[in-house]
Amino acid sequence: MKLSEIYKKYLIKFKENNIEEISLRILLCYFFNFKDMSEFYIEQDKNFNLTNENLSSINRVLNGEPVYYVINECDFYNFKFYVDKRVLIPRIESEFVLKKCIDKITDKFKSNEKLKICDLGTGSGCIAIVLDKLLNYKKEIFVVDNSKKALEVCKINKNKFNSNINLVKSDMIKFLNNNSNFNVVYANPPYISKKYEVDKSVLNYEPKNALFISPSYYYYEKIIENRTLFLNKKYIMVFEIGYDQKNILEGFLKNVLDFKKEKYEFYKDLDNHDRILVVESL
Ligand SMILES: C[S@@+](CC[C@H](N)C(=O)[O-])C[C@H]1O[C@@H](n2cnc3c(N)ncnc32)[C@H](O)[C@@H]1O
Repeated sequence: MKLSEIYKKYLIKFKENNIEEISLRILLCYFFNFKDMSEFYIEQDKNFNLTNENLSSINRVLNGEPVYYVINECDFYNFKFYVDKRVLIPRIESEFVLKKCIDKITDKFKSNEKLKICDLGTGSGCIAIVLDKLLNYKKEIFVVDNSKKALEVCKINKNKFNSNINLVKSDMIKFLNNNSNFNVVYANPPYISKKYEVDKSVLNYEPKNALFISPSYYYYEKIIENRTLFLNKKYIMVFEIGYDQKNILEGFLKNVLDFKKEKYEFYKDLDNHDRILVVESL
């Protein structure tokens, strides 16, 4: 059957099941080994066959499972990370936060400085592995997660990208209280309080430990409160935050920071939501 016919046939089913059209294209590109989406359009008049395994993957997505878990990969910052239901699927918002982190690090630190970095709540390891691969510094990177299963996936990605990260199974606050001298702390901790409405496929398939915490700002406050224990004098902390958390976090920061030595700034994403908090030494 022509690719365009396969697409049209299943598009009807995807629409009936309220599944995003992009998931169908991602599946078809994956089945037929296309390098990128443009090949999908170029190849539309060629004939392709769907295997039984392909059909069962389509059914999983039609039943609401996120397409990235079905194909076991997800593009993030130009890397293809292995993912499955043991970890949160890396999000586009996090690419935005990570870009800010990379820009901030390269502005603040000279290329001959050695950096001690940690990624708190690492999940698939996507943040730390990109930092490891793209930052041109001597560095030591620790990745922390309290989920054994998440760290199993992180290890798969560490090996896949031959990355030099150190995996630590620990509560992130305990880890920080037993370690010192970090120049860079990155955290995308759980920040959704249970009262929020979350998409059904996220709720049904993604790990709850990666998403929910009450109060929603718990980890930011704990990390910032304890910062003198684990930070080097010259430091930067980058946090991904929920779009409605700026006000509460700003009130807290005004009370706890020593403005002779440190400062904070919030940054907006392209949707004009405050999604990044940076706290750093002056
Ligand atoms: C929002 S996910 C972030 C995953 C990944 N860093 C990313 O940006 O895509 C949060 C991660 O924090 C981990 N986590 C939750 N509570 C934790 C805790 N108390 N200590 C360490 N890790 C924790 C979860 O297992 C999950 O992998």
